[in-house]
Amino acid sequence: MARLDTIIRNGTVVTAADTVACDIGIKDGVVVVLGRDLGDADEVIDISGLLALPGGIDSHVHFAQPSGPDIVMADGFASGTLAAACGGNTTVLPFCMQQKGQSLREALKQYHAAADGQCHVDVAFHMIITDPTEQVLGQELPALVEDGYTSLKIFMTYEGMALNDREILETLSVARETRALVMVHAENYDAIRFLTDRLERAGKTAPRYHATSRPIPVEREATHRAISLAELIDVPIVIVHVSNGEAMEEIRRAQIKGLKIFGETCPQYLVLTEKDLDGLNMEGARYVCSPPPRDAASQTACWDGLSTGVFSLFSSDHCPFRYNDTHGKLVPKGRTSFRWVPNGIPGVETRLPILFSEGVGKGRIDLNRFVALTATNHAKMYGLYPRKGTIAIGSDADIAIWDPRRKVTISQSLMHHGSDYTPYEGLEVTGWPVRTIVRGTMVAGDGIAAGKPGHGRYLSRTRSLLAARP
Ligand code: URP
Ligand code: ZN
Ligand code: ZN
Repeated sequence: MARLDTIIRNGTVVTAADTVACDIGIKDGVVVVLGRDLGDADEVIDISGLLALPGGIDSHVHFAQPSGPDIVMADGFASGTLAAACGGNTTVLPFCMQQKGQSLREALKQYHAAADGQCHVDVAFHMIITDPTEQVLGQELPALVEDGYTSLKIFMTYEGMALNDREILETLSVARETRALVMVHAENYDAIRFLTDRLERAGKTAPRYHATSRPIPVEREATHRAISLAELIDVPIVIVHVSNGEAMEEIRRAQIKGLKIFGETCPQYLVLTEKDLDGLNMEGARYVCSPPPRDAASQTACWDGLSTGVFSLFSSDHCPFRYNDTHGKLVPKGRTSFRWVPNGIPGVETRLPILFSEGVGKGRIDLNRFVALTATNHAKMYGLYPRKGTIAIGSDADIAIWDPRRKVTISQSLMHHGSDYTPYEGLEVTGWPVRTIVRGTMVAGDGIAAGKPGHGRYLSRTRSLLAARP
């Protein structure tokens, strides 16, 4: 065997299936050997007492996404992927959003131009379809799926983005024909508009009323409807950012029926609640995201979904805005009503430590499920497996080294994202990624950038393995 570039020695290697004490040999960015006594290498990293996990794959992040007049997203690809790397991730899947009237190719050209040469970790794009014309669904989308853009997101809410049921059915039909995977944002648009109008008429305009305007039935109904529409077309879908037990139970019921319905939840639904949106002034705007964080019972239900396998994905839904910024959460119109506060919170850097500490550390999930929920299932779901999402011979050497005992108090001062706050300020966690390696190269170590922007590559993807039909 040719001399190895790197050996990671004396650690415990954890995958979705196994936990093994062994060394990892890397050559040309790929894992080429797992075992003991691997000989010598140009670089030997001793990780005694530490864990080697597949680098996290965060399959739900938003970078550089147009977010409305006068609103600027806090992360582009450089800061967003650096934050991802420092948080133990080696691949992210941001969205490429089609503007109304825009061709998908044109949207992709813009996102590729924004990402090119900027990324610290590897990147692939999901499309967001906001304008499902005949041309888009009949011509563009099938060609893009062939070109490796094998997943897309659709919205059942948001001004200018929501698709009606007919449009959803048309989109799902094309997904079935092309074997693309559709991610669904499930909230009932008309119900939200009705409740928002009513709250505004009553003068209830503070950020806390964002949660009141999108109660659990709004999400449960849309989840049920999305599943029913997918059942009609006989196509798999992923319900993203599920926040509560009622929506989770809709997914569980569908799965028991044998439907290929997948679920994703996020850190905000495990450790935040509606109460975080309280505050006399605009403080609660920091936590405005959709669906909103709920209550303790919803948190428990989301844990249940993670531990029983109803949810196969744990993502951040990183959608960062600055708080103290008139182009962010404090946009002047937002002071007149929660309706205008930009939706979304940062989280790409804290997703993994929160699940590690609250999940593995507190005995709610084991380490192998942690790996499945944060890396392996994302790779299988979105056509990156086995190149990504595991530590195996032939896989890219995408590895996060974890110190399972390190205690950290999450704080904005530790973050690398473009936001000026973290919604998890003050949360104490045990377990932290201390080194992140992408294709054999260290890109972050001890909370600082170790690589250069541009190491991260664009990834073309195959069809979903998990959603494949016989
Ligand atoms: O509030 C959120 N989640 N913003 C991000 C966009 C989305 O719906 O995923
Ligand atoms: Zn969404
Ligand atoms: Zn999102």
